[in-house]
This record gives sequence, structure tokens and C-alpha cells, in this order.
Amino acid sequence: MRKLILSTVIAATAATTAATGAFAQSPSDVAKARRAFYTLVGFEMATLGGMAQGKIDYDAEAASQSAGDIMTLASLHTADYFAPGTSNEDLPGETRAKPAIWEDMAGVQEKGMAFYQAVVELNEAAGNGLDALRPAVGKVGGTCKACHDDYRAADF
Ligand code: HEC
Repeated sequence: MRKLILSTVIAATAATTAATGAFAQSPSDVAKARRAFYTLVGFEMATLGGMAQGKIDYDAEAASQSAGDIMTLASLHTADYFAPGTSNEDLPGETRAKPAIWEDMAGVQEKGMAFYQAVVELNEAAGNGLDALRPAVGKVGGTCKACHDDYRAADF
């Protein structure tokens, strides 16, 4: 787990380094990949949120699988998804990523770590019944919102 946490930290800080690196993909491709990443995170979270809110029946296996998938996603090296030149000022209509991300990478990293930690706890709780799942999902959801509030624009 320590290794995963480290790779997440490095991923966030590496975005600065990425500025000097070579990117084969166009800025639009980077924004597409970033949005696809968060689409997957949101997809798994929807299952868990549905269970937590009683909209779908709790199922220990399905909950554990979704929690595990979010863990896997949270463990990806995301620096390349945050390549410079891919904010909503650079690519209007293609992304909601605010320029604040590139002005405050340490802040983004902090939000990312809070998210990661909540996902670790979610994985411990997901298979242990609805009463254990509910607060863990709520905590993860809070970390999504905290990052979106600062770094994601409401509209394209
Ligand atoms: C560290 C910051 C951060 C965290 C944590 C985070 N997000 Fe996001 N999210 C973003 C940013 C930035 C975007 C905008 C991406 C873009 O438009 O390029 C985004 C976009 C999205 C999108 C829209 C994707 C699209 O198709 O445009 C969804 C859905 C989403 N996030 C869900 C979640 C959920 C659910 C969580 C928590 C389980 C979460 N995010 C956690 C930063 C974060």
C-alpha cells in the first residue's frame, strides 16, 4: 500500500516534470483520457452511491468489486492526464479542468491523497454490510466534491 500511496504522490507532482517531457498525444487527447478516467471513477461510484442511498439492493460482492475498481483507478499514474496546456482555457468546450490545477499542483495532490485514503477505507468497509458501506461511500463522495469545488468548472 505504501508503494501505491507513493506512486500517487509522485503522479501528482510529476505533472510539473511532464512539462519538459515529450507527449505523443495532442492536448485534446490528454483531455479525453482524463475525462475517460473520471468517467470510470464515476461509473463505479454510481453503483456504490446507489446502494448507499437504497436505490439498488446492497450486494457485498458487487460493492467490493466497485470499491476495488476505484482503488485500481486511484492507483494509476495520472500525471500524463494532467499535462500542461490542457485546461479549459486552453481547450474551451473540451474540458472542465480549471487552470487552478496547474497553478496549485500541491493542492490537487492534497485532494488526491484525501480521495485515495477514503478509497482505502471504502475497501475495508464495502463487503461488511450496508451500515458499514454507507459512511465510507459518504466519505469518498466528500473527497470527490472537495476536488471538484476547487478544480472542476461547473460547465464546459
Ligand atoms: C484530485 C481531484 C479530483 C478528485 C479526487 C475527483 N475528481 Fe472527478 N474530476 C476532476 C477534474 C479536474 C475533472 C474535470 C476533468 C476534465 O473535464 O478534463 C473531473 C471530472 C469528473 C467527471 C466528469 C468526467 C467527464 O466525462 O467529463 C466525473 C463523472 C467525476 N469527475 C467523478 C468523480 C468522482 C465520482 C470522484 C470521487 C469518487 C471524483 N471525480 C474525484 C477532479 C477530481
